[in-house]
Formats: sequence, structure tokens, C-alpha cells
Amino acid sequence: MTRHVFSFPRYLGVGLFGLMIGQACLQAQAQTMPIDSSSSSALPPGIERSAFGQLANGREVDCYRITNDNGIEMRVINYGGIIVSLKTPDLQGQMDDIVLGFDSLDDYLSDAYRRANPYFGALIGRYGNRIANGRFSLDGETYQLPTNDGPNTLHGGDVGFNQRLWHAEPFSSSEGRGLVLTYTSEDGEEGFPGRLSARVSYTLTNDNELAIDYRAKTSRATPVNLTQHSYFNLQGEGHGSILNHELTINASGFTPVNETLIPTGEIADVSGTPFDFRRPTAIGARMGEKNTQLAYGKGYDHNFVLSKNPGAAGHLALAARVTEPQSGRVLEVSTTEPGLQFYSGNFLDGSLTGKSGRAYTHRSGLALETQHFPDSPNQSNFPSTILKPDETYHSRTVYRFSTTQSEGQSRSTQPHSS
Ligand code: BGC
Repeated sequence: MTRHVFSFPRYLGVGLFGLMIGQACLQAQAQTMPIDSSSSSALPPGIERSAFGQLANGREVDCYRITNDNGIEMRVINYGGIIVSLKTPDLQGQMDDIVLGFDSLDDYLSDAYRRANPYFGALIGRYGNRIANGRFSLDGETYQLPTNDGPNTLHGGDVGFNQRLWHAEPFSSSEGRGLVLTYTSEDGEEGFPGRLSARVSYTLTNDNELAIDYRAKTSRATPVNLTQHSYFNLQGEGHGSILNHELTINASGFTPVNETLIPTGEIADVSGTPFDFRRPTAIGARMGEKNTQLAYGKGYDHNFVLSKNPGAAGHLALAARVTEPQSGRVLEVSTTEPGLQFYSGNFLDGSLTGKSGRAYTHRSGLALETQHFPDSPNQSNFPSTILKPDETYHSRTVYRFSTTQSEGQSRSTQPHSS
């Protein structure tokens, strides 16, 4: 197995296991009492909590505002682990919100939102991206999942992790300030085998990074592929399309798809295709080319096979870099994952209006989803996504925010072993 899964006792010992069980208990507790009476009542400096709304079942959703020492600010809700806003400075030091999203829970629960199904800012699980025909076989059994994207299952099924209420614990550590989110997915939820305890931490560092650690344990073998679905617009959300953003992806291969966006199994060379982002290229530069893959995706909606340094499996490697020429904002994405879904917001159509009252028009945000490859449970030549009970799933992704000016002065993204 090439994924970043550790054999449990060898690397992690009882400490983490105890922690996860502890989290599971805290979660069970959180299901029976209001969240404010949990141990998180005293908030660390730099973190504020406010009410965000109420779900149909009466449960309260909280919003956490987390700031770092440089004024970067993110707001996260415990419904879906959604990052609802993220403010970073441009070249002039002006702060803008660079992710698509809403200021009210009702907008995330509306029929219009469910119809469009963009997964703005959400945690995705159990399985990011598609599983063909919602079906896979494991240990001699065939599992059928709900299909919610034509014939396929997308992002975990009808009610994925993006629609679950997570237990949230704010923290402050030497690395930064953040939130630990936990959720236990029961055996059989959305058709998946095994009781899966998921634990995701968001850490906002003073190096202007958002580090995301995904951990999970299961009671039975099951596919797991967790990711984050923020849509970025480095000019500021609601400020037009992302076609002028310059993108570099550290990948010499990608996984071509069929008409329903399921990989064919081939790993194709990007050379000479519109999928070659090894040098900085405007996203829109080749979007109009006649290309079957672009036609299937209605633009870019593809998994890139990341080029890692030899021996770097399980360590962070720079996957992608985005620069927006007018604002000078730069976003770098590093990950321990082998793949990156670059989605150019092709299904945004202006039907949703965001936080600032501006419509989210066609290609007004881009997602860079770090992941294992789509449909891996059915593709034996792809790195395995099967998590076994004696293993702990751990994957780490770091989004780093800078500007074209500050870039040269500050440190580069350091590999960080976990
Ligand atoms: C998928 C797209 C999908 C989008 C929103 C992306 O991860 O690759 O096909 O439209 O999520 O659902």
C-alpha cells in the first residue's frame, strides 16, 4: 500500500488510539448536550466562537473565527467542517476573502444549494471524488453505495461528511491555532463497511499556512479518501472568473476519464496537452482547445498524478502553486497525497449568490483537492485506498498564502514529516 497509512502500534502507540477513543467519547457527549457546555468553553486567544444557525433537527451549528498573528483570518463551522471565509492580504496589504461561501447556514441548507451541489469549503468523506456505479468489492463482498452523480457516487454519497455535524475542539499549539473536528461514521453509513472515526485538524500557522491533518480509524476494512473542497478566487470571492490565475501543477501525468468522469485506468503523459501545468500557465489559456478530456470535464475536472521526490512518500511535497497577477496573491499547496483534483468551477452557473451579494458565476472559483485517485476501489493499478482496522489513516495538506512580493522574502514550504 503506498498511501500514508501506518501500521498502528508500530508508529503511533496507544497515545493516539487513546486520543481517538477520547474524541469519540467527547463526540458522543456532544450529541447529547449543547456544545457550549463541552470542555471547549474557554477559548484560546485568537479564537472566537459564535452561533451560526440551527439544523432542521434543532442542533446548533457554531462558527469559529481563527486569526493568526499576521491578521489572516478564517471562519469554520462545525457543520461539514466548512471553511466559510478566509481573508488574506494582497500586494497592498488589503485583506480580501478568497474562498467562496455563505454567511448563513440557511444558504448551505437551501434547495438551490443542494441542486447545485458545489460542496463549497467542506470536508469530503468517506470517499472524495467518484466511485464508478457506486459499487466496489472488498474481501469477497460487493458493496452498493447511493449514486448521486449520474450512475456514480460522488464525495461520499447522498449525505457525505460535508453534511454532518462534527464535534469541534479549538486549540492553540506551538504550530498555530485551530480546530480539531471529529465525526464517527457508523458501520454501513452511506453503504460503506466499518465504523470509521474521523479526526480532522485545521491549523492556521504564523507562517500563513493552513495545515490540514486528516486521521481515521476503522473497525473493518473500508475505502477512505478524505479531502477539503474550498473554492479559491485569489482576487476575492465574487470577483469574476479564475481564468487569469496562473497555475503550476507538479505533475507529469493525469488520469483521463470517460464521459461520466470515471478514470479509464490509464495514466497519461501531460506533455503536449492542455494538462501540462509544469510551468506557470493561465488557467484559461488552453481551456477552449478542442480536446476530448476538456469536453468530458466541461473544462478542467481531472486528477493529476503528483511527481514526488524519490523516497518522499508520506512526506509533504509541493503539489501546486497559483498566482493571481492583479492582487499578487499566491497560493501554494503541499501534500502527502499522491493525487490532486484540479476543478475549474465548471458547474458554477451564477445561480448561487455568495457572502458579498455577488453571484458565483461560471468558473469563479477553483478547487485543488488533494486526494488518492478517483475510483481507486475499482482500479487495481492505482494506489490503494483501503484502510484496515490495524492501521491509522493520516494525510496532511498545507495551503500556504503569500504574495508575489513577500514570497522571495519568506521561507519556502518546508517538508514536514508527520
Ligand atoms: C468534482 C466535480 C464536481 C465538484 C462539485 C469536484 O470535486 O470533481 O466534478 O462537480 O467537485 O461537486
